[in-house]
Amino acid sequence: MKSSARILFVCLGNICRSPMAEAVMRNLVNAEGLSNRIEIDSAGTGDWHLGHPPHEGTRKVLDEHGISYEGMKSRLVEHADFETFQYVVCMDTKNLRDVKELFLKAIADNGLIEAHSAQVLTFMELSPQRGIVDVPDPYYEGNFPYVFELVEEGCKALLKQIKADLALD
Ligand code: 4NP
Repeated sequence: MKSSARILFVCLGNICRSPMAEAVMRNLVNAEGLSNRIEIDSAGTGDWHLGHPPHEGTRKVLDEHGISYEGMKSRLVEHADFETFQYVVCMDTKNLRDVKELFLKAIADNGLIEAHSAQVLTFMELSPQRGIVDVPDPYYEGNFPYVFELVEEGCKALLKQIKADLALD
């Protein structure tokens, strides 16, 4: 039986959607006293905002819900992430394709297949009842409160799944 889990949320810029999911998930995990069992991080597939804090729209919606994003900074997905994280949750299907491509490259370059144990999925697979494929990108479309609603719902479902995987229920 696994005793701990590490989750990586991935989007394009790592300033809007995946940091929102990271902050929301950490808040849920902390509230259940599981921070010693479940670790959370986020990363992007694009490098435009490396080292930047979350977008002001993400910060505003997190502030409104009293959720901390202290110290969070944009970073790129890297090969080692496939060894570190058991759950790699991509905010849209393009992110999923890019992550899988990077993963295949990691195998080709480093022979990581033995070590690989990550489940790679899209965020909206966590809320199938919504019938939505991608978490819309508020960088282009705005509507951070709607994205927050999707993120909160998906994170609750993911926590439930991980608690079952770790037999914590
Ligand atoms: P995110 O949104 O992937 O949810 O962080 C974006 C942030 C920045 C850019 C695109 C999407 N950009 O092109 O800079």
